[in-house]
This record gives sequence, C-alpha cells and structure tokens, in this order.
Amino acid sequence: MSTVANRITIKRLHPHFVAEVIGIDCSAPMLREDFRTIWEAFNEHQILVFRDQHFNDESQIAFSSMFNQLETMIAHPGNDWNPGHISVMTNLGKDGEFLPLDHPAMVHRARNEEWHSDSSFKPIAALASLLSARIVPPLGGNTDFASARAAYEALPVERRAALDGLVALHRMTHRDMDNDQGYKEEDKKRHIVTHPVVRTNPVNGRNALYVGAHAQEIVGMPPEEGAKLLDELTEYCTQPQFVYRHAWRDGDAVMWDNRCTLHRATTFDRTKYKRKLHRTTIAGKAPDTAFAVIPGMHAG
Ligand code: OGA
Ligand code: MN
Repeated sequence: MSTVANRITIKRLHPHFVAEVIGIDCSAPMLREDFRTIWEAFNEHQILVFRDQHFNDESQIAFSSMFNQLETMIAHPGNDWNPGHISVMTNLGKDGEFLPLDHPAMVHRARNEEWHSDSSFKPIAALASLLSARIVPPLGGNTDFASARAAYEALPVERRAALDGLVALHRMTHRDMDNDQGYKEEDKKRHIVTHPVVRTNPVNGRNALYVGAHAQEIVGMPPEEGAKLLDELTEYCTQPQFVYRHAWRDGDAVMWDNRCTLHRATTFDRTKYKRKLHRTTIAGKAPDTAFAVIPGMHAG
C-alpha cells in the first residue's frame, strides 16, 4: 500500500500554539491522510493558518464540513439577515460600499472586539471556526487569538484544583446588550446555557479555561462575584505571552479551536479601508462534560 509522504509541513508560529499548514490546497479534493494530518495539527496547535488559499463560499463550506456539520446561523445583523452557513465580517454593505458606523450590523460586529469563543452560548458549543480573507485592509483589522490551554497549563496546581468543577453560565447577549437594537427580533430565542469552566479536549485530554465575553456568571456564586472571577480568568488568558496576533494577507484562512482559544477583532479605520472575511462555524459533537440548558432564564 502506498501513501503520499510529507505533502504537508506544519510550521509553529508561536511558542505556545498556532501553526501554519504548508503544502495543501484546501479547496481541492483532499487525501484522507492529509485530512488526518490537519485534524491532528488542529488538536495540537489550536489555531491553523493556511496561506494562499482560494476559497469561495462553496469550497469553504466543503472543507469546513469535513470536520463536522456546520452551524446554521439564524438571520441577524452580523450576517445582514442572511441565514445560512456563512457569516460575513465586514464593514461593507451588499453594494460593496461602506456601512455607516451606527448601522446595526456594524454595532453588532463591534462586539467581536471583546475576547470570546464563538457560540459558547449554545448547548453544544462550536468546535471550530474558519475565517477566510476576501478583502484585507492595508492597516489594522487584525484578529487576536489567545491560548486558554497554555494559560490553564501555566496555572499553579492549587489554582487548577480550585477551578475544577466550577460551572459558568453563558449568554448569547453581551452584558451591555440592552443598548443594542440589533437583537430585538431574536429576544425570544435568547437562551442561557452552562459549561464547565475547565474544558477537556477528548482527543488528547488537554485542559483549557473556557471563558470569554459570553461566560457571565458562575453557578452557585453571587452574580457579581462570578462575573469578577470570569473577567479575571479572561484577562489572565489574554496576557501577551498567550496571544498571537494575525495580520491578514490576501488568500489567508485561519481555523481556530473554540474549545481552547479565545479571539477578538481589532480595530481599523472603518470609514477608509474595506475589510471582508467569511466565516464558517463547525459544530461541536456531544458535550465533553455535563451541561444543561436552563429554560426560562433570559438576559436583559
Ligand atoms: C469571528 C470573529 C473577528 C474578526 O469571525 O468569529 O470574531 O477579526 N471575527 O473579524
Ligand atoms: Mn468570533
């Protein structure tokens, strides 16, 4: 039996995480071994960077679907009320012209500047997200990533033990959501879920802190106390030594593990430079530890 050896090279880009995958065209049919190499690299390195790709929505959906089913987005301001598998991170309207800064889509997307894990407010949270660059601004508009796995592993043993078993309550809405008009039509669909604060990757047993903007309370703690602890943990995870900043280039695609990393958008001149990235979100499988939907609890 013959296999194709070493078609793919994995090059680490940061001391703690992030690797560039070299030697693969993600839009082309893929060998099983190549997919396995990518899957293993994803579990190990948490963030994968693919350069010089040629994704369109169809090929991005096809590649992303190899990992698991995709999440389907309901219509909301972040995707210009176009439900489906593609979320669009842009400052442009459908006509390709700049959106006003107070447009609901812009207000909604500005929230991506808070550290978060995609879909952590869902009962089965996202496994991964894949963002592909379609229009890259010449200055700014980077995406920051933090390894919540490296952060967890750097904690003293006693601190890890103290966090073990804690459960956080995640809301879709951000804390200042009442000022956001964009979600009105979704109000009824808001839900609150719980996830463990320490998450384990079932493939390799590595633990990570599972925090970020949607994690807002700790079950069994007064709300302010839980919020304070979660804020501290997010701040801890996002210290410079755990952070990789991705400066987008044409043809870039970045795939991140939502189970063990946090990310945020960074600012740029939205009235001067055009930016457009398309995201697919790969659903999680079963919860890796117990979770519960708390019915009847609503934010705001
Ligand atoms: C996302 C996201 C950040 C960015 O696509 O989930 O948070 O830099 N994007 O656009
Ligand atoms: Mn995001």
